[in-house]
Amino acid sequence: MNVKPDFNKNANNAATAPAFLSVWDIEAYYGESYIVQGVSFNVHEGEILALLGRNGAGKTSTLRTIARMGDPQLKHGEIWLDHQPLHNMAAYQASAAGIALVPEDRCIIPGLTVEENLQLAQIAPPIGWSIERVYELFPRLGERRKQEGVTLSGGEQQMLAIARALCRDIKVLLLDEPYEGLAPVIVQEIAKTLQIIRDQGITTIIVEQNAVAALKLADRAVILDTGSVVFDGSAVEVLENDALRAEYLAI
Ligand SMILES: Nc1ncnc2c1ncn2[C@@H]1O[C@H](COP(=O)(O)OP(=O)(O)OP(=O)(O)O)[C@@H](O)[C@H]1O
Ligand SMILES: [Mg+2]
Repeated sequence: MNVKPDFNKNANNAATAPAFLSVWDIEAYYGESYIVQGVSFNVHEGEILALLGRNGAGKTSTLRTIARMGDPQLKHGEIWLDHQPLHNMAAYQASAAGIALVPEDRCIIPGLTVEENLQLAQIAPPIGWSIERVYELFPRLGERRKQEGVTLSGGEQQMLAIARALCRDIKVLLLDEPYEGLAPVIVQEIAKTLQIIRDQGITTIIVEQNAVAALKLADRAVILDTGSVVFDGSAVEVLENDALRAEYLAI
């Protein structure tokens, strides 16, 4: 039986309610390069967490470690999702356990239509939302269902990448810079969709260079600096703390 360890402690070492996703003291390497240097944080069910930090702080590497991608290699620490030990899993097992990583480059499959990209996500269980339900959330995708996915606009491709994740039965959505290169109006449209997805019970970690947009969406924020956590608290606290933003986010 899988038993979640007792490491739900906040920064003051006080016990907190058990978290849905617990990342505990993870250390990860690209070859000899020590990149994720003992990162710990908790995410509660149905919460949106903004994972922020300057370029090279280790945000993508942390997401990739949680999703159990081969690189970077996890050498220390534990990751638990809803009582399941992700740290013992390969990427395909973490995916089956409910982790979905939407990478920065969106990875839309060339030669396939919008609908075929979605169908491909459903060829094996665990199957999540129906394609019709996805089109209700993203009407633009429904209108363009026969269009080749890679010919969509940047914003539409981001919607397709998120939609494809929802076609699997996921618990946690990991978004790496979903707003990159998008106009403010499209950012707002995607943010509204992410709120709806949250309201339907999916837990989200959003990594963004557009920290203000991410903080407006998020409940909580974790800030990384050179592979370590330097802040863990409410999103509002970061929005209101000019010194913190200047020091670690350069905004
Ligand atoms: N495949 C790799 N091999 C070696 N080092 C890598 C590799 N990928 C990333 N790194 C290094 O790991 C560090 C953290 O990179 P990471 O991509 O996690 O940062 P990030 O916070 O996502 O940055 P950005 O905001 O620029 O996307 C950087 O110093 C980077 O050069
Ligand atoms: Mg990155």
